Amino acid sequence: MNKRFHIQTMGCQMNEYDSDFLAQSLIKNGFLPEKDVHRADIILINTCAVRAKPEQKACSFLGRMADLKEKNPELIVGMIGCLAQMKGKELMRRFPLLDFVMGPRELGHILESVEGIIRERQRLVQTALDKVPPSPVKCTGYFQNRTSGFISIMEGCNNFCSYCIVPYVRGREFFRAPEDILEEARYLISEGIREITLLGQNVNSYVWKETQNKWNFSSLLHELAALDDLLRLRFTTSHPKDLSDDLLACFANIEKLAGHIHLPFQAGSNRILKSMRRGYTREQYLAIIEKIKTCDEDIAITSDVMVGFPGETEEDFQFTLDLIEHVEFDALFSFKYSDREGTPAAEMSEKISENVKIARLQRLQDIQNGITLKKNQRLVGRQMTVLVEGASKKGEQLTGRTSSNKVVNFDGDVTLAGRLVEVTVKASYLNSLKGEIIG
Ligand code: SAH
Ligand code: SF4
Ligand code: F3S
Repeated sequence: MNKRFHIQTMGCQMNEYDSDFLAQSLIKNGFLPEKDVHRADIILINTCAVRAKPEQKACSFLGRMADLKEKNPELIVGMIGCLAQMKGKELMRRFPLLDFVMGPRELGHILESVEGIIRERQRLVQTALDKVPPSPVKCTGYFQNRTSGFISIMEGCNNFCSYCIVPYVRGREFFRAPEDILEEARYLISEGIREITLLGQNVNSYVWKETQNKWNFSSLLHELAALDDLLRLRFTTSHPKDLSDDLLACFANIEKLAGHIHLPFQAGSNRILKSMRRGYTREQYLAIIEKIKTCDEDIAITSDVMVGFPGETEEDFQFTLDLIEHVEFDALFSFKYSDREGTPAAEMSEKISENVKIARLQRLQDIQNGITLKKNQRLVGRQMTVLVEGASKKGEQLTGRTSSNKVVNFDGDVTLAGRLVEVTVKASYLNSLKGEIIG
């Protein structure tokens, strides 16, 4: 009988992309996807290691699988992804129910490993980081009912910001060949995908020098945008220190490129930015923001920020608040700094107490919520182009996104999914807009 697998995805968009890869590989080889974890023969937990919270979440989920394993000793449980890479053998010791641990760069072996475990019941730890990430598989019908898809164009990071575990769990920068990226894009489009988001820890450091024609991130965007039936192109994440004029020009020159840039700043104080090893100053960051706004004031700017980095004083924190008020981000992902074992920041003294971190995060989020609301209110009455994704969460309306990545809900027929429609914004909330189709 065909075995059923369940994938629990706990990380970022690249983690989701990896889960899609795993699912497609397994389905192509006769395994069946199973939404209900209780009915699965194989459970894969795709983990994140970036902060303590996702680590705890993954471990408590795994702990809850112990009962299932007791009832069904044939059940296969694998921990994969970034936490699996970070904690490898330690996880195997701590959780006897685990059959295997597999890092992100080993995912290409998923079939061999699962089939090997079914045959021989051996326990496996696969955490080599020097392997190239797996090539995508094509699995007709997998993207049914989806209009947006991801393509990883690069993986890994060479920046080693002092707080960050990503370079240790995703390895050094690896760039995929432009031809492979274009082929994957053609495949997604042929499966009905109309919007592609290019993924990478630092997409704008993309280069390809192995062929006579040299490529950079801008040339890749131009080639992808030329594909028929692709309606929109997005990318994330960009690093401020690699943001070129060439890339900024793409916003003006490539019609399909969505008007949104995610540009994490992390902190507003130069002292903290230096200690974080971010490679730019507050002034340099603000100069880039000015350039983006001058290029097109409608480009939405979002960012990531941390509070409570070791040594962060009230004055440093004020610099962060000041930057937020000055830039007026469209949305901001804000986090409490969290020690990651093996990173330089984890060894720093002057740790900030949890209470102070909580209070600073709350103050920051209150300010940002006010800004987000104010910016969304400015959109009321405006006409915007929306790519329809399908039925909204509550199911009564359609949902889609503007070029600036704002969610819009509106009445309409579900057959519009995958199409661009013109909408007038009627009302605005913190996380979405209410619209009305024109014509
Ligand atoms: N490559 C991206 C970030 C990837 S990690 C960049 O350089 O901007 C996603 C976000 O998690 C980061 O932007 C940062 O805000 C947050 N983050 C990373 N390490 C963290 C840590 N140790 N504690 C809290 N937040 C962290
Ligand atoms: Fe982490 Fe810094 Fe690399 Fe981003 S650039 S993934 S924050 S080390
Ligand atoms: Fe993503 Fe978390 Fe790994 S943010 S790259 S899943 S550590």
